[in-house]
Amino acid sequence: MNVKKSDENYVTIGGVKLERTAVLAPMASVADHAFRMMCRKFGAAAVTSEMVSAKGICYGDKKSAELLTVTEEERPMSVQLFGSEPDFMARAAQEAAKYKPDLIDINCGCPVAKVVSTGAGSALMKDPELIGRIVRSIRNATDIPVTVKIRRGWSLDTENAVEAAKAAEQNGACAIAIHARTKDQLYSGSADLDTIARVKKAVGSIPVIGNGDIDSAQAAARMYELTGCDLVMVGRAACGRPWIFRQIKHYFLTGEILPEPALEDKLAIMAEHIELLVKDKGEYIGMKEARKHTAWYLKGMKNAAEYRRICGTLSTLEDFYSLIKQVKNDN
Ligand SMILES: Cc1cc2nc3c(=O)[nH]c(=O)nc-3n(C[C@H](O)[C@H](O)[C@H](O)COP(=O)(O)O)c2cc1C
Repeated sequence: MNVKKSDENYVTIGGVKLERTAVLAPMASVADHAFRMMCRKFGAAAVTSEMVSAKGICYGDKKSAELLTVTEEERPMSVQLFGSEPDFMARAAQEAAKYKPDLIDINCGCPVAKVVSTGAGSALMKDPELIGRIVRSIRNATDIPVTVKIRRGWSLDTENAVEAAKAAEQNGACAIAIHARTKDQLYSGSADLDTIARVKKAVGSIPVIGNGDIDSAQAAARMYELTGCDLVMVGRAACGRPWIFRQIKHYFLTGEILPEPALEDKLAIMAEHIELLVKDKGEYIGMKEARKHTAWYLKGMKNAAEYRRICGTLSTLEDFYSLIKQVKNDN
């Protein structure tokens, strides 16, 4: 597998210069400030907020506004909006711009019924012309560069990623990210690299970000090589493994595959993450949310099934520290 050459080490998206390694995918209920900080610390080239409802923002919902917060340490950071009406999306983008994100991303991929039933998320794949109008309306409303995250299509029968990407490009998007599965596929099967290659060929003037199933440095290199994409995006594989970004960067720089961190190091990284989560959200909410993250960190270890059960009961930092002690004793 070829490792990228040094003259290909950066890509510019809407004037924002990014390392050509891997960016963190937007993930609702996962990619909050604490998780994004961990990913940036390990070298994610950029991070994205959880998706935020355009209507929620326009109607002054407090939770939606909180999701828009961008801290300096997280930059470059994008905030992702979901919605289906160009006017609302433009007003939401103006509100979002007050938080000074580096980029604003439009969600055209979410398959969740609550979102799709309003015409937003992956339902937009049924109407590329509307995607174009939304991009245009946001472009006209703010100076923040706009990106679009699409899927392969709504279904295999109506596959139209190229058309959707072109509509976004023609209306002023500055990059296209593509999760190469259809809405109907949800997360089943594997992402279709050929779709990413076709989108890259069709969209000449702006970068294309490939996404789907990257779970190692070699998989990232493979996506670059087989699709010709400008950047890659990692989602699920960063859950409980934020160091994947360091592994990807290291591989591209040196051609060497970094091993997984030693147990002690993994536990220290997990503790740093969970302590930050609790600092951000308080112990009650923070520890509830820590349950899934801790289970991801401990996946695959000896006694993992027992740890998963314990993770599901964590309520205090004290519970969490005793779990760490137990893992150390067992291993
Ligand atoms: C828990 C979870 C939440 C997600 N939330 C979002 C989201 O808010 N917006 C979005 O565009 N995609 C969302 N996605 C999709 C991911 O961004 C990504 O496209 C998908 O997981 C495929 O990449 P992967 O194989 O690297 O995980 C989510 C995925 C997961 C697993």
